[in-house]
Amino acid sequence: MTQTVAGRPESSRETEGPAARRVQEDPRWKPVAATLRRQGHRPDALIEGMHAAQQAFGWLDPAVLRALAEALDVPLAKVFGVATFYHLFTTRPLGTHGCIVCLGTACHLKGGPEILAALTRAHPVEPGQTSPGAEMTLTVARCIGACTLAPLVVLDGEIAGPVTVEEVLERVERWFGPASGETTR
Ligand code: FES
Repeated sequence: MTQTVAGRPESSRETEGPAARRVQEDPRWKPVAATLRRQGHRPDALIEGMHAAQQAFGWLDPAVLRALAEALDVPLAKVFGVATFYHLFTTRPLGTHGCIVCLGTACHLKGGPEILAALTRAHPVEPGQTSPGAEMTLTVARCIGACTLAPLVVLDGEIAGPVTVEEVLERVERWFGPASGETTR
């Protein structure tokens, strides 16, 4: 059976293999293994294990998901299902930088959609995706709990708000170099 980054396993029990073993021999697996050990390798430690794996590897590639399935004796289909259900997990490589645009109610009313539209016009990236050169992963959030700062964005883990379209474009432009696409207003 084969498995692609975006694909699904044909069988829910196909968890073993060289790919999973390679991951388990990778030094980055150590903190993940420690997390799973603390949880007694119980199947319900899956989400915690995924957090640890994403932190260690940056994203959850199919080999990492196989390794988790094997370590917890959970069907691979279930592991893929959980990884793709929760927005906080990513099954694609992330960009060097991260930009989250909040589109919760307060941010929406104060210009979040305009910020998002300006970013996607200026740079080759869509919400939920990483730019082709891996400069940035663009994500949309539904309120991150700092509404008094609306509209806000999170740039490389730091909240910035209230921000204007121009301020966000200026910050992000440093990651890409000057935008080659259409710039805003
Ligand atoms: S709506 Fe954006 S932080 Fe709450």
